[in-house]
Amino acid sequence: MDIRGRVVVVTGAGRGIGAAMCRQFAAAGAEIVVVSDRDEEAAMSVASGLGTAGWSVRCDVAVESEVQGLVTQVLERVGRIDIFCSNAGITVKGGVEATNAEWQRMWDVNVMSRIVAARAVVPGMLQQGRGYFVQTASAAGLLTEIGSASYSVTKHADLALAEWLSVCYGREGIRVSCVCPLGVETDMLDGDDPVHRYLHLHSITADAAAAEILRGIELETFLILPHPEVLEFYRLKGENYDRWLRGMQRLRQKLVRQR
Ligand SMILES: NC(=O)c1ccc[n+]([C@@H]2O[C@H](COP(=O)([O-])OP(=O)(O)OC[C@H]3O[C@@H](n4cnc5c(N)ncnc54)[C@H](O)[C@@H]3O)[C@@H](O)[C@H]2O)c1
Repeated sequence: MDIRGRVVVVTGAGRGIGAAMCRQFAAAGAEIVVVSDRDEEAAMSVASGLGTAGWSVRCDVAVESEVQGLVTQVLERVGRIDIFCSNAGITVKGGVEATNAEWQRMWDVNVMSRIVAARAVVPGMLQQGRGYFVQTASAAGLLTEIGSASYSVTKHADLALAEWLSVCYGREGIRVSCVCPLGVETDMLDGDDPVHRYLHLHSITADAAAAEILRGIELETFLILPHPEVLEFYRLKGENYDRWLRGMQRLRQKLVRQR
């Protein structure tokens, strides 16, 4: 899809990958870039750097009424949403011992947010006969995140939803991309955590990730892989699941020893 003249909404855009996406959407000629975040000040600060294209809207994506409110506000002001980027995401460290409240929070922010956004946006896109969803999942959605069970599970679910949307609405003109990066240098990476330190070794900047995302949208590629090596890891997993699991077990052991 050509980004020029498009109305774009990005959630979790007050910093990190979302903020970089907004700056690059504006630079690529989007007509309106809605910078949305639960942190209102951060969203306003990003939007103010985008000239007349930038708007900020506060929205906590874990609250369906706020996502609906964001969509309604944009539709009332400009009448359409061309590209909706479900980007906001969080992580919680640990395995199944994380509390139910933590698992629920991960489910709400990383998965339900995408479902309620699609619920709110799909009808308008079907009516206009086109539209684009971009979901920032993670390489953890294709592989796994050794340090966080809830991140791995919710990012797999994010990818599953993106696939489903593409299968069900592709013929109606709705495009979907699922972004699956490894480490990106944002506040999400924690320098004290051995798994995150390992991700840092292969990390790229948020600007580099955003550039790949925009390129993927222009090419209408479903799987956007800012780290091309992820495709090779995914291929190895598909080729021989057990060998891949043994490799991941070895890697985990190595990282745990570094704690
Ligand atoms: N940084 C990485 O290494 C990495 C790798 C793969 C995927 N991702 C994914 O990229 C996306 C963006 O992450 P990032 O690295 O830019 O993180 P970040 O922490 O730098 O930025 C996340 C933004 O989302 C906002 N946010 C958090 N919860 C929200 C909520 N409930 N409603 C609205 N906004 C909310 C925060 O205020 C923040 O501005 C996430 O989905 C993340 O899982 C990140």
